[in-house]
Amino acid sequence: MGNSETNEVDVRKLLVQQLESLEQSGLADLPVGTDSPDFQFAHAASEEVRATSPQPATAPPEPAQRPTPAAPSATPDAAATTPQPMRNSGQWGSPLPADDRPAALEVINNLVRNCKLCDELASKRTQTVFGVGNPSAKLVFVGEGPGAEEDRTGEPFVGAAGKLLDKILGACKLDRSQVYILNTVKCRPPMNRNPADREIRNCWNYLEKQLEVIQPQFICCLGSVAAKSMLQTTEPLGRMRGKFFPWKGAQLMVTYHPAYLLRNEGAKRHVWEDMKWLMQEMGVELSK
Ligand code: URA
Repeated sequence: MGNSETNEVDVRKLLVQQLESLEQSGLADLPVGTDSPDFQFAHAASEEVRATSPQPATAPPEPAQRPTPAAPSATPDAAATTPQPMRNSGQWGSPLPADDRPAALEVINNLVRNCKLCDELASKRTQTVFGVGNPSAKLVFVGEGPGAEEDRTGEPFVGAAGKLLDKILGACKLDRSQVYILNTVKCRPPMNRNPADREIRNCWNYLEKQLEVIQPQFICCLGSVAAKSMLQTTEPLGRMRGKFFPWKGAQLMVTYHPAYLLRNEGAKRHVWEDMKWLMQEMGVELSK
């Protein structure tokens, strides 16, 4: 066995052992530290949309700009955020062999199923909603949190917003089996409210571990809850679009949440523009 193979096996064993021992020691009950914490795409495709993309005031390091950005806004951001330790810093460890990823994700899923860190969410959920898709996906979508349908079925993005996400994927010549879809929080916030900061922090370890196992090359944040959580910024979503932010081993970009598109028809063309750009970077040919 070569060195790199030995290394891979060691890493796999280590991760599985670590996750199992966390599970046995009741991770689900441990407090988490403050920092651990439709579509008219066919016609929209012919439109050229120019997103406003000035530099974020508090966003992580040096995002790569989309090649054709519009002029930045001259207005300074009055709501600049306090800088915090960055979740995107550092690098992932050696990737797990593809065959071992489903089992590693299942270990994390077991922790999630038993998690009671958020009293209200844990007591009101029907079930947790972990994530679906390809454990070796090149692209991961990060949503906000489960809604009523997701809470009922245990699968992310199966309601109206999910159907729209499927159309977006279809327009990108992708389907759910090729990508991975997960949420910032794994339990439904009652009354479809936004997840609270504390709830996002409590769920952070799970999201981080999911990404560590999958190690995607690209991450697409759907909506501001996901974007703000991944990038630890209060920058408005419109200002985060049109850039790639380095996020560990991945390139992270931000676009509008499908639920927002259901209420704001006009934003669909922006999302299509974002997705075309992402597909181009991923080497997915859309014109055929
Ligand atoms: N919105 C989300 O962010 N995630 C889901 O799973 C469903 C709707």
